[in-house]
Amino acid sequence: MREAFRASVFHCLGDPGEAGRTDCSEYFDDGMLVIEDGHVVEAGPAAALESRLGDTPVTDFGGKLIVPGLVDCHVHFPQLDISASYGTQLLDWLERYAYPAEMRFADESHARAAAQFFLDELLRYGTTTAAVFATVHAHSAELLFEAAAEREMRLIAGKVLMDRHCPEELRDTPASAYADSRALIEKWHGNGRLGYAITPRFALTSSEEQLAAAGRLAAEYPKVWVHTHLSENLDEIATVAGRFPARANYFDVYDHFGLARERSIFAHCLHLDDNERERLAARGSAIAFCPTSNLFLGSGLFDLRAMAAAGIRVGAGSDVGGGTSLSVLRTLGEGYKVLQLQRQNLPPDRALYLATLGGARALYLDDRIGNFTPGKEADFIVIDPAASALSKRRLRTAADAADALFALLHISDDRHIHRTYVNGKARTS
Ligand code: GUN
Ligand code: ZN
Repeated sequence: MREAFRASVFHCLGDPGEAGRTDCSEYFDDGMLVIEDGHVVEAGPAAALESRLGDTPVTDFGGKLIVPGLVDCHVHFPQLDISASYGTQLLDWLERYAYPAEMRFADESHARAAAQFFLDELLRYGTTTAAVFATVHAHSAELLFEAAAEREMRLIAGKVLMDRHCPEELRDTPASAYADSRALIEKWHGNGRLGYAITPRFALTSSEEQLAAAGRLAAEYPKVWVHTHLSENLDEIATVAGRFPARANYFDVYDHFGLARERSIFAHCLHLDDNERERLAARGSAIAFCPTSNLFLGSGLFDLRAMAAAGIRVGAGSDVGGGTSLSVLRTLGEGYKVLQLQRQNLPPDRALYLATLGGARALYLDDRIGNFTPGKEADFIVIDPAASALSKRRLRTAADAADALFALLHISDDRHIHRTYVNGKARTS
């Protein structure tokens, strides 16, 4: 069925961070988005599109703003319960908070309820696509995929691989990691809108045997994603160097085992050197920029300029529970501050790009999602800029739509996501 939505419409066609690019976004103040059977037909000025609508029903979202569904390139669904936990830095935080929270997922009913709650929260914050860490338990990924399929979400997820230097209860083995991941790939990868990510937690919690097993699996399934953490915290990096003395650097650990390629997502990447950046770019791998986590865990400042110069694909990651908000908009608000501290900038159109098309490119999904070009899947959100008294007041002085969007990166919350559409269907009310 054909349907139209009338509101302001803002979407990206390219990366505003690319030198010399000026035609990267389209904004229609009185705009219209037309969809049919879960796909975009067209987006444009309402005055032009209206005349060819015929008897197509139109939903009027006057005063609101439609943008593509937001893309979260790195998030842990079992960690919602411990986000914003007081503590120290990464390695201690994992022991004190993350691992105990993940142990509770041995209980299937806990995992099922958490998966449903998590996905409904993503939708309430406007996230329609995410790359998600489950726990070491195969059923945690299974239950997340089931819940995502019910909601028709485009989700990439995987069971975590970890067989050393973590609590006994959370350990798998190289053989079980391989077998469980393989079974999950066979069942879920390419099933509807779902994709599988081979998910070694990070270099410190996998033996060489397990990383080799993950690499074998990656070679057998060239189209599945690989999702892990890289170069987040200085103590972590020093420990990796001690445990893998034969490897040139942290990136080399993953590359050596065949885990760096197109569709590999590396979260954080705060302390990469030039060699790591060049090799990561050459592999076609992507980085999830996770500013709320990087600030909260005191990990460091992400160098977006260096990544862009190296030609690396970058998307935004909430990294809840190291990160403190599921909102991709607020994540990029913190990204702006991280870049300010380094005398770099994040203009509003580039923030929108990272939240949508940039994330889609990082995940190699930009042929399906990320903007409103004809044929794309109809994932979009309706933002109510005036949903809070404060934003209503602040936006009176906004110079234009970009300025308003910029303010919302800093002062919006779930109230501002008026409705989320997934595959053409409203999934929030
Ligand atoms: N590195 C290894 N595991 C984790 C995790 O759960 N969160 C973050 N932020 N970094 C990690
Ligand atoms: Zn993480």
